Amino acid sequence: MQKKGRRKFIQTATLGATVLGTQYPLNSFSKSNIEINKPVVVSTWNFGMAANEAAWKILETGGRALDAVEAGVQVPESDPKETSVGYGGLPDREGKVTLDACIMDELGNCGSVAFLEHIKSPIAVARKVMEETPHVMLVGEGAFQFALSQGFKKENLLTPESEAAWKKWLKEAKYKPIVNIENHDTIGMLALDKNGDISGACTTSGMAYKIHGRVGDSPLIGAGLFVDNEIGGAVATGVGEEVIKIAGSAIVVENMRNGKSPEEACKIAVERIMSRHKNLKDIQVGFLALNKAGDYGAYSIYNGFNYAVKDPKTKILKDANHKMKY
Ligand code: GLY
Repeated sequence: MQKKGRRKFIQTATLGATVLGTQYPLNSFSKSNIEINKPVVVSTWNFGMAANEAAWKILETGGRALDAVEAGVQVPESDPKETSVGYGGLPDREGKVTLDACIMDELGNCGSVAFLEHIKSPIAVARKVMEETPHVMLVGEGAFQFALSQGFKKENLLTPESEAAWKKWLKEAKYKPIVNIENHDTIGMLALDKNGDISGACTTSGMAYKIHGRVGDSPLIGAGLFVDNEIGGAVATGVGEEVIKIAGSAIVVENMRNGKSPEEACKIAVERIMSRHKNLKDIQVGFLALNKAGDYGAYSIYNGFNYAVKDPKTKILKDANHKMKY
């Protein structure tokens, strides 16, 4: 595990970005004249509101961003009514609920699980992978056996409601990715704690009725989530295959490194996905980013993507700016 050291935030002194509406040189996060908005937590979709509350309890008492994001995303993970994350998630085409999640801390440590069955909180298992193994990612049966070895319990994740929805889908069994225009799929969360450190978490049951074994962007560091504590973090939601193809969250963070605001950085990643397609009919992707100064922003291909924000002054659900109207 990487040891925490005194690293300079930024080397690129000549570039600028926007914090709380103000232009600033990127290497000035460490200087006292910049107003840092902390602590702050942001997360994707409307279920982020309740998730942020759980994260906030940790952040406001001076807790670590890593603990905050883990606790935050566990709220929708454990809610059987949320059909796109954790317990109660819609199953794959064989009726199996398979979960993907990853977590990344301020030191660049990360852990991930994919294609994990029978465990209610994949984010907690991802954290165990990060902290208890020399690896980054465990998948499938191996991830499940690891979870059991860490004290997690085997549980049935398929609720009667999700089973009924799957049986209804089976009647036609049209395999078409579902575009979440005004709905939600993944929860991605980023937090900046009182200490000025950023961590992130991302967790999902993936695309409903996917091929058994399909893994999306959410457990992939650099795709569904990326954090660089010198710069900021980003998370993705939507059609995971598109996010993977451009290393979406890593691209957003690199755009912030090059001086873009969080929203501008997300927009560039969205435009990169759009530039790869003539027909965007079934492709919704959204990115959400938070920088080291506590400034945040999001952008999506279509309208309908929203994100939750909680900081000392704000508790809101915001609509992301977007390229197209659905
Ligand atoms: N973004 C979630 C997924 O594609 O699985």
